[in-house]
Amino acid sequence: MKITVVGAGAVGASCAEYIAIKNFVSEVILLDIKEGFAEGKAMDLMQTASLNNFDTNIIGSTNDYSKTANSDICVITSGIPRKPGMSREELIGINAGIVKTVSSNLLQHSPDTILIVVSNPMDSMTYLVHKTTTLPKNRIIGMGGALDSARFKYRLAEALDAPVKEVDGMVIGGHSDKGMVPLISKATRNGEKVSDLLSAERLDQVKQDTKVGGATLTGLLGTSAWYAPGAAVSSLTQAIICDEKKTFPCSSYLNGEFGINDICIGVPVVLGKNGIEEIVEINLDQSDMDHLKESAEGVRKTNKLLNI
Ligand code: LAC
Repeated sequence: MKITVVGAGAVGASCAEYIAIKNFVSEVILLDIKEGFAEGKAMDLMQTASLNNFDTNIIGSTNDYSKTANSDICVITSGIPRKPGMSREELIGINAGIVKTVSSNLLQHSPDTILIVVSNPMDSMTYLVHKTTTLPKNRIIGMGGALDSARFKYRLAEALDAPVKEVDGMVIGGHSDKGMVPLISKATRNGEKVSDLLSAERLDQVKQDTKVGGATLTGLLGTSAWYAPGAAVSSLTQAIICDEKKTFPCSSYLNGEFGINDICIGVPVVLGKNGIEEIVEINLDQSDMDHLKESAEGVRKTNKLLNI
């Protein structure tokens, strides 16, 4: 099995690293336009193989798409990241052109691949891939909700002073500071609702901290985060390659599900060998549904900037 990661910056290299360490594919191709950069990152990562005990072969390439041929999954991380104070939406002008070119190059060599879009503004970039390629909708997946949910669980565990493994929670909606919908009403610790364990004020704080999770890190790091995005991508790719049928919130093209049409936005999906095997229309209370609809309008507004 073969996975291509386009963009060997911090996010792309983290994706390659976590995929390799989890040892579920034989080959990872890391591609970048900067001469020698992907080759260097691949070599550095390969020198961890004996230490980290993995067999995955990571191959770097300067923009040679023939090396990506017949990839089972291609991950697009290319584009510019956020700087402190910037919204993800502000990146649309530059990143749209890049994502369009990259997806078209990838599909020339891997026409049946599954594409995972990471570049921001992620929901609009995922929609762009839908509109500009012929891939069926189950093979186009936006990575955002899995990352936002991991940040939500981190914040919940912190508030509960509990191990993160005992906490469950999901964030749906757009991958933007305003658009995320952390589903507090469904979050649990060991099956008990967190709304029975934490005050409304504390839960509101968890919600706010989750929504600005990426922006907080951008402020601290001077650029956007990479470890958690890389780990989230590796979990999605593993679920697909290993046909796990595991549920993650991912940006997915909606055609009436949740009463929403013709946008890509984060909703729970089952991932398996066909990519998105199913969109799970979980029951949402009125408030969460209203927030999802509001978030959808925000994504739709950003999509208009794509001029497609
Ligand atoms: C973040 C970027 C990857 O949220 O969107 O960190």
